[in-house]
Amino acid sequence: MITINDNYLKLQSSYLFAGISQRVQTFQKEHPERELVWMGIGDVTRPLPDACITAFHKAVDEMADARTFRGYGPSEGYDFLRDAIAQHDFQARGADISADEIFVSDGAKCDTANIQEIFAQDIRLAIPDPVYPVYLDTNVMAGRTGPQQDGRYQGVTYLDSTPANGYVPALPTEPVDLIYLCFPNNPTGATATREQLKAWVDWARENKALILFDAAYEAYIRDEHLPHSIYEIPGAQEVAIEFRSYSKTAGFTGVRCAYAVVPKACTAWTAAGKPVAVRDLWSRRHNTKFNGVSYPVQRAAAAVYGADGQRQVRALTDYYLANAACARTALQEMGFKCTGGDNSPYIWVQIKGDSWAFFDRLLQKAGVVCTPGAGFGRCGEGHIRMSAFNSLENTQEAMRRIAATL
Ligand code: MLT
Repeated sequence: MITINDNYLKLQSSYLFAGISQRVQTFQKEHPERELVWMGIGDVTRPLPDACITAFHKAVDEMADARTFRGYGPSEGYDFLRDAIAQHDFQARGADISADEIFVSDGAKCDTANIQEIFAQDIRLAIPDPVYPVYLDTNVMAGRTGPQQDGRYQGVTYLDSTPANGYVPALPTEPVDLIYLCFPNNPTGATATREQLKAWVDWARENKALILFDAAYEAYIRDEHLPHSIYEIPGAQEVAIEFRSYSKTAGFTGVRCAYAVVPKACTAWTAAGKPVAVRDLWSRRHNTKFNGVSYPVQRAAAAVYGADGQRQVRALTDYYLANAACARTALQEMGFKCTGGDNSPYIWVQIKGDSWAFFDRLLQKAGVVCTPGAGFGRCGEGHIRMSAFNSLENTQEAMRRIAATL
């Protein structure tokens, strides 16, 4: 008899965004005449930057010629991309990261999901609430939690992000080993200052813990005082892994390219207390389970770092930030308290009452799709998330409809 991994039975029946999409499809089937505005899942709508398209086309042409054709590439990514990342995303900001600490992949979702595999079964987890559901669900699948009770999994330390702490959680008051952080935050849009990140890094160093830092929305930071990378904090290389993505930076959600940074100094321990370089384990895993991102996609990603690419990526993220500003201002004028939307494409809106009921009301009355805060965790209740990934016209239309509905 083939038995299942019954940890999967602890999960909610569907992944948050799949569940929402199902609900919206059912509504749309019943009301085919209604034109919906999507401000739910954070999926980009604008085309790829010209510089990426040009590099992409050129690389496809290379694949069409026997002299320039390429088969398997290095699992960790081509040097041309890893070198550009190390230089532009880190060294230029004073963070001493080298190309051989970078692992190119097909998504930050997969990387943040897979990284837990290299740690022991009995590590203690600290997970923000609200949270991007992947961090939690993958640990549930791996059997690191107990069953769910009142919307929380037993055995997890939840880091509450609430209006009272500005959605930046306090340091844990109990021992934990693996800490997930995401700034600019998904879903709240909150950002962490240098001092706040330093407190986390210092705590991790003192407690031999490790931080998984998701910086997928880094390209939306406009406040020059905010750190873009955790490695801008001294000592972070020993205790942090960082995840980045071209999805929200350069519109790659359908193209797939991201990377993880695992510094050589980053250390974990055997049960007997012997130090082990986390980088070597991740490299071993990556080489065993992954064959690299396709050559044309890596060329397209590398084009982000040229002068044209930099300008175009800035224009792209500025476009979404203008939508975010429009939505935030309109929602504030309607009387809602909002966070995010300035250094982030997400606006976290405080609402009265049940967030799924609010979601249904917006869908049915206004034809606007948002994400109910409760889908991100217990502390998300009383909030909805609005995504700025749409056209300005649609964002304005959504705001008009919401105002008319209230
Ligand atoms: C979101 O809406 O939170 C994101 O688009 C999901 C993702 O990046 O996987």
